[in-house]
Amino acid sequence: MIDILIKRGQVVTLYEGLASGNDINLGIQDNCDIAIKEGRILKVAQNITEESETVIEADGHVVMPGFIDTHTHALFGGNRVDEFEMKIEGLSYEDIMRRGGGILNTVEKTRSLTEEEMNDELMKNLRKMSNTGTTTLEVKSGYGLDLKTELSMLKVMNDFQENFIDIVPTYMGAHEFPKEKSRDEYIDEILNKHLPEVAKHRMAEFCDVFCEDGVYQREEARRILNKAKELDMGLKVHADELRESGGSELAGELGAISAEHLIYPSKKGLELMKKSGVIAVMLPATSFILSSDKPPVKEFRGKGIPMALGSDFNPGSAPVLSMPFVVGLACYHYKMSVEEAIAGSTINAAYALNKADKIGSIEKGKMADILLLDYKDIREVPYWLGSNPVKTCIKGGRICFERENC
Ligand code: NIG
Ligand code: FE
Repeated sequence: MIDILIKRGQVVTLYEGLASGNDINLGIQDNCDIAIKEGRILKVAQNITEESETVIEADGHVVMPGFIDTHTHALFGGNRVDEFEMKIEGLSYEDIMRRGGGILNTVEKTRSLTEEEMNDELMKNLRKMSNTGTTTLEVKSGYGLDLKTELSMLKVMNDFQENFIDIVPTYMGAHEFPKEKSRDEYIDEILNKHLPEVAKHRMAEFCDVFCEDGVYQREEARRILNKAKELDMGLKVHADELRESGGSELAGELGAISAEHLIYPSKKGLELMKKSGVIAVMLPATSFILSSDKPPVKEFRGKGIPMALGSDFNPGSAPVLSMPFVVGLACYHYKMSVEEAIAGSTINAAYALNKADKIGSIEKGKMADILLLDYKDIREVPYWLGSNPVKTCIKGGRICFERENC
């Protein structure tokens, strides 16, 4: 007896693993069944005959792995709706930062939250993300910029044990500099207090730094990331977002798992990323909202550098919760192919979070994180920009929700 049997779906399996280059194969299998037992995928085949308590008829529907959002700042206090209006009037991200807005505005609001309030804010955001099919996401700290709040943010993420979504926590104390300290004082605090404490209690799988001229200079970022590496944390870099600042080169030199944003990577950065197998995380919602340039997608494709996708969900540059919308922007705005965008939000995203042995594809033994879509053709996910394609969401072998009229 199995727990769930999905019948006759058009299944996007993505069984080939990390995808890059010109010919990405989504491994689509028509008229295919999926057997789920004890939270995992037991079998993917035609005409499975096992008895099941629950049978889901998927004829005429695409069935795909749950979306994995590789890059979010989903835990924060308040919002920045006033800055949104300034943006529309023409002020840039950096203009707003200089006027006391930006990350420091959210830091103030986040510091004032209790852990219980942080949990409520996180829950609210993650429920909405689940609603559009996100089954795993990365969440970065970085709105505390002091030991107490950074640790509270990570504690709330680690304690968040809901069954509708999984969180991968990243420590990002180096997201900005706090007002009350000098640069050197704060970097010392990160190196000697934050990172040792985070590592000791295994509160974060990754360490990320906003490596950008005007924020953390390359050599400052290098010191922080090297320390995190010594402490056995994986590395991520916010790299070359506003201008070429050495972030992609640093990610390659240090063997980071991913470099993110990447609007202006240098030639050398691309070479080093390729050499070290760094995944390029594309965040099309951010550059769309900031009206900035676009990353060199053709070069990533040509060099065979794998691309993953994230929402970058945050209250400033990307108040965007929906991965189907991000997949749409990846195609319409970045000209990524449908295959790149779907692999980028599933299997490649799983690799970018070091979780590809458990999630990201529909394969025997993996966690049963599966979406039944209201579409017949996977290309409709980006095509119907801004709509919610998810009819049924299964997380860890349990039906999270079913929507009748979507
Ligand atoms: O990834 N680039 C730096 N950090 C965020 C923005 C966070 C914020 O504005 O609050 C980003 O876009
Ligand atoms: Fe970010």
